[in-house]
Amino acid sequence: MRRYLSVLLVIVLALIGFFGFQGKTSKDTPVYVFDDMDYQSKYKPQGENTFFADGRDARLPVAGTVARGNAIESNQVFADDYRYTAALNPSFVTGKDAQGHFLVNFPEKSLELLPTGELKPFNIDAKTFETGRTKFQIYCAVCHGAAADGNGIMKVRSAVEGDVAINTIANLQAALYRDYPAGQIFDVITHGKNTMQGYGDKLSPEERWSVIAYLRALQLSQSFPGELIPANVKNNIK
Ligand code: HEC
Repeated sequence: MRRYLSVLLVIVLALIGFFGFQGKTSKDTPVYVFDDMDYQSKYKPQGENTFFADGRDARLPVAGTVARGNAIESNQVFADDYRYTAALNPSFVTGKDAQGHFLVNFPEKSLELLPTGELKPFNIDAKTFETGRTKFQIYCAVCHGAAADGNGIMKVRSAVEGDVAINTIANLQAALYRDYPAGQIFDVITHGKNTMQGYGDKLSPEERWSVIAYLRALQLSQSFPGELIPANVKNNIK
């Protein structure tokens, strides 16, 4: 009987020892029977590492690396024949020439490679205008208006609500903006200006140039030079 009681006591004490203090906080290092994955060799962010010559854990991405998932043009980037073409044609992604001046017109070459390894010319064709029209209507028309005259829905709204800040929306039909170098408009779209935010993260470089092509068409539509009107049309206008 006594033996039985002492065995029972040991079991009860063991059980209390194991479960009795659960949920209590303690400053002592816990006894790990199984340490699961609490302790394992790993690299910590910004940590040191003697394996690499520069002594850093974190490795820099390989040149030309593009983030997966949110990358613009990811299909192209992961295609077999992908080359980091922006390096071959910096003007296309900056809107500036080698001297740092804004391109007056559109870039001559695109970012696409021909099988010969040369860059394809950047053609402004019906597809370019269609892309430009779609993107302009999504990203620009709310403020600058469908005709780029600065009378978008935001202007209407600000007139109703008396929001002064939005009154600065530029009228892109003004002579100033007709004369603006294409590269400078590219720069404004990429980085924004004053109260206008940038759209560089939403529009790829091709799409930005397409928007500019469409904007140029809109500008032309509102100030068409008389000498370009065919004679038969001109006669009908009178
Ligand atoms: C949310 C409103 C808004 C949207 C959307 C918007 N803009 Fe603007 N934009 C402005 C405002 C405001 C200004 C005037 C900024 C300033 O104070 O100089 C401006 C100015 C400009 C200018 C003239 C910049 C200069 O150097 O004076 C250009 C060009 C322009 N926008 C193009 C665009 C294009 C192209 C898009 C579409 C990709 C676009 N904007 C989308 C509000 C907007």
